[in-house]
Amino acid sequence: MKKIILVLTISLLFSNCKTNSKKEKITGLITEKAMVVSAREEASKIGSDILKKGGNAYDAMVATQLALAVVYPVAGNIGGGGFMVYRASDGKTGALDFREKAPLNASKDMYLDTEGNVIPGKSSFGIHSVGVPGTIAGLFEVYKKFGSLPFKDLIQPAIDMARNGFKVTSKQAKALNRTRKLFEKANNYKVLFDKEWKKGDLLKQEELAQTLERIRDNGQDGFYKGKTAQLFVDYVKELGGIISLEDLEKYKAIWRKPIEFNYKNHKIISMTLPASGGICLAQILKSIEPFDLTKIAHNSSKYVQLLTEAERRSYADRAHYLGDIDFINVPIDSLIATSYIKKRMNSFSWDKATKSSEVSHGAILGHESDQTTHYSIVDQFGNAVSVTTTLNTGYGSKVLVKGAGFFLNNEMDDFSAKPGVPNVYGLVGSKANAIAPEKRMLSSMTPTIVEKDGKLKMVLGTPGGSTIITSVLQNIINIVDYKMGMQESVNKARFHHQWLPDNIRMEPNGFDSTTKDNLKALGYELVERNSLIIGRVDAILLLPNGKLEGGADPRGDDKAVGF
Ligand code: DON
Repeated sequence: MKKIILVLTISLLFSNCKTNSKKEKITGLITEKAMVVSAREEASKIGSDILKKGGNAYDAMVATQLALAVVYPVAGNIGGGGFMVYRASDGKTGALDFREKAPLNASKDMYLDTEGNVIPGKSSFGIHSVGVPGTIAGLFEVYKKFGSLPFKDLIQPAIDMARNGFKVTSKQAKALNRTRKLFEKANNYKVLFDKEWKKGDLLKQEELAQTLERIRDNGQDGFYKGKTAQLFVDYVKELGGIISLEDLEKYKAIWRKPIEFNYKNHKIISMTLPASGGICLAQILKSIEPFDLTKIAHNSSKYVQLLTEAERRSYADRAHYLGDIDFINVPIDSLIATSYIKKRMNSFSWDKATKSSEVSHGAILGHESDQTTHYSIVDQFGNAVSVTTTLNTGYGSKVLVKGAGFFLNNEMDDFSAKPGVPNVYGLVGSKANAIAPEKRMLSSMTPTIVEKDGKLKMVLGTPGGSTIITSVLQNIINIVDYKMGMQESVNKARFHHQWLPDNIRMEPNGFDSTTKDNLKALGYELVERNSLIIGRVDAILLLPNGKLEGGADPRGDDKAVGF
């Protein structure tokens, strides 16, 4: 009997090992030619269908963004903004800034009371938190430059889905139900989202369908002028806000030069200001480049420590130096110069944690002065598009334009309302990110493309507020240093440090107790929390055999679709 039990135990152990090792080999969707990875299957499919019809990655971007505005109202949007980085099949790169901007009537102290204190919630909730939206201008800018299919074909699937409805997922029902009180508080009428939702319910948005039809028929003016603009501005007035018709008419998306740098024989192409992502990514990757990570186990205490110290120094610089490049002088080249980074890391020691109170921004010579969404696209022609777009927190300001059916962002909170006072992500800022009319608020968005030996290697990005940068960072390291597959990399537990507050935010259950004990002994404060804001990375990796592997983040309803 004992023998039988022993044999059974051993074979059980072995079968466990087998399933474990099988579990280790996580692979995402593999396709031959093209792929879209986004926050929702419906949107990825709409994008992929456009590619199948012969459209290119830019066409698919337009279709995917508009589909997300319908099926993923928590972050997909036409009332928000974002950033796009591309790498065309001929290797040319570029970036588009369709970030929201402060209204003409905005002012530096608009969120302070008479005593100079920040009024809680004013910059992050309701009509006062809204920036002038950039998404539709961004889509038309991309379409004008690169689009190949008729625009109506790109927008029609979103119109149909808005009109006929889509099925609410369980995560989505929970998020909507959680937000009901805020919908009621932010609006002066009962918005269609304000009811008890359950998985499988059909969500139809007729007013949004009609807004999208006006965009289909009148182009950019279907949003920034005419009926949509009037509905928008009338409702802003009703609620006591400051965005005007002139604000809408004047909005322009801007082509920018992406941040490009090398990391261990890979070329990284990422977003520049007003998104801080590219600069911080460059600083952090360059800080750790001298270290041989093959000698440091992934997610071990040494690994967490090294990245944390690099992140701490970069986020301190972010808070001091970064803001809208059209309004302030930012010494970008100096901030990402290898010599500067080396100096910044001089104070790093393996023996103990550096205290954030002892780290300020570095000295630069010559210096004058809970929702977003990301999608990655590779088309059958070899073009790659990386887009992060947002309303800021979930459902933005919670204001749903009456008669037009779309949410307005609460992006004004990404400005520094007062130097040193943290925003919803705990980020602090300074003069560089102070509010001014028509200025763009500093972002953490990091849409990124990676090249190796002159060829496309990876397209990635994520939502997650301040954790965006560090989530993109960890996925680049997973691929470049630890040679993971795309889905394997996306699934790995992540952590985050942002200078202030001085703690390491970690995903629960992702780090073993030795790692955590070691870190605590070195003086690090750890916060383990299952939170939405550790990113939802949607990425595509080009495999050595030329195929594509998708990485769709299991933390959300994200999905890769392709062919
Ligand atoms: O631009 C930014 O950095 C923020 N507005 C992004 C917000 C975000 O990622 C929320 N997602 N969870």
